[in-house]
Amino acid sequence: MCGIVGYIGQEKASDVVIKGLERLEYRGYDSCGITFYNPEESKFITNKDTGRVAKLLNDNHYPDNNHLAIGHTRWATHGVANHQNTHPHYSMSERFVIVHNGVIDNHKELTFKYLHDYEFRSETDTEVIVNLIEEFAKKISVVEAIRKTISLLDGSYALLVIDTNDTDRIYAVKNKSPLLIGESDKGIVLGSDVLAFVNYADYYYLLEDNSVITVERIKDKFVFEIFDTIGLKIGKPEKHPMDFVTDELDKAGFEHYMLKEISEQPTVVRKIMSEYMVDNKLRVSPDIKAMFHQVERVYILAAGTSYHAGLIGKIYFEEIAKIPAEVFIASEFAYNEPLIEPKSVFVLISQSGETADLRACLMNVKEQGFKTLSITNVPTSTLAREADATLNIYAGTEIAVASTKAYVGELAVLAILARSLSIQHSLDLVYEMSRAAVAMENIVDKRDYIHEVVQQTIKGEHCFYIGRGIDYFVALEAALKLKEITYIHTDGLAAGELKHGPMALIEKDVPVIAIISQDHINNNTRSNLEEAKAREAKPLVISLENTSKGNDDIVLMDVHRLLSPLITIIPAQLIAYYKALDLGVDIDKPRNLAKSATVE
Ligand code: F6R
Repeated sequence: MCGIVGYIGQEKASDVVIKGLERLEYRGYDSCGITFYNPEESKFITNKDTGRVAKLLNDNHYPDNNHLAIGHTRWATHGVANHQNTHPHYSMSERFVIVHNGVIDNHKELTFKYLHDYEFRSETDTEVIVNLIEEFAKKISVVEAIRKTISLLDGSYALLVIDTNDTDRIYAVKNKSPLLIGESDKGIVLGSDVLAFVNYADYYYLLEDNSVITVERIKDKFVFEIFDTIGLKIGKPEKHPMDFVTDELDKAGFEHYMLKEISEQPTVVRKIMSEYMVDNKLRVSPDIKAMFHQVERVYILAAGTSYHAGLIGKIYFEEIAKIPAEVFIASEFAYNEPLIEPKSVFVLISQSGETADLRACLMNVKEQGFKTLSITNVPTSTLAREADATLNIYAGTEIAVASTKAYVGELAVLAILARSLSIQHSLDLVYEMSRAAVAMENIVDKRDYIHEVVQQTIKGEHCFYIGRGIDYFVALEAALKLKEITYIHTDGLAAGELKHGPMALIEKDVPVIAIISQDHINNNTRSNLEEAKAREAKPLVISLENTSKGNDDIVLMDVHRLLSPLITIIPAQLIAYYKALDLGVDIDKPRNLAKSATVE
């Protein structure tokens, strides 16, 4: 979702900002822009339009000695993706320039109350913010005007603001949308994700909500200060070195990040095993175990792929740990809370750790005094920091918008958590996970075969995945993968439900893909597939060695039945990948989607 980057320093500021925006491209966007100070013309210049960041760089001139810039990638929320709605936005007199990540819920009321004399050039809520700053700065200092503005805003926002009368300062604000500061001897960089700082910062700082930041050049030094919303100076937060592996950010010879990330999944499982291994057992820390002491029910909250991992997490909690569990889509739970048992623990699953729907839930349940545990791939993320405790999935940076390795990472950590909480389950997780990693490798190695299967089977505009029990939950994730990167309409169905309505959509050659990893429902799912075949559907079976029959199309190595989702999802990810490849669509950045959904 929207990404922001700002820089002031000795490097060519437009390069730092544009390279930073490129690093944030994975979040998903449909337009982008930059404002920088051009010393050749002694004025601020803005370049912006729909399309890719590369165009922003290639179609425009940036003098070498520009030292201050702010930029933005926009994922449309208020107003379509067009030139006018693209950030940066100017105030009416063009004194102030702003980029904004987030959503302002009361922008209409604020316009009506304070800005009736203002003309607006876009349909965005952001223009209201910049005009409020302009209005208030007529009577008070700029920083006071910013503080007054944010005191009126309802919603989420990370902002970078430039006063065009001042070529040596960027103002920034963070509330509910991500914003971090990066620092090097050469300058200060601001951005929505630490990835934007790669090559331009040695250290980074995480910011708390309601921080107001000034970044400025003082003589030949570049410094930042952080204030609260009433103007009191806050000490600098903890400094983190930029020591993560930048190799992760390259495609390592793969044509797409998605294929690279699919291939990394066995390594992710092994990495998780090494991180959670204690005395030859896979365990979470005693503090986290203690959170579940006498727990009556676990509530799992998540969105999208992480929600699908959560559905399997429920099975793990109930079958392995014998703790009742419920799973909710975060955006539903946030505004339709069920009756909650007093001794409940909330487990929030999120690859990014920034999903706004989930954060809204976290705030609600924390306020009610419930214990919260987040499971994320980004230990510095908002959810990791704000939950009572957090578990890292160690999947490494996931760049492709379609989540793959984070899903298996979430499953593996959920299994470890459930096993740690179980009193006497016989599951030997070290042995079973090691076997699963081998089975995962085996199917990744056979990916060319999956490509052939795709070319023979996946045709037309509709597709169905079916399964029962744990396979049904994998079918949901498999369908999400196919639809999000190929744009083929795909549903994941409980196999038994096919005849209760969806069968009406089955006609000649519609692919129906059955996932069959569980012995006790093997025949039932096969019967449902037969019913689809009788309507001339094109069947495809993904099974394990011990559930396979006759001519099953994709037969995977056997693994423990509870760990089968780690394996059965891989052919489905590859089916999606190869179909998208054959269709020639943008695999890593599917249309309309954002990697990090930072608005509710
Ligand atoms: C699908 C996908 C999304 C995310 C969802 C939640 O491939 O990536 O469905 O799973 O937006 O994101 P996180 O896990 O970051 O909270």
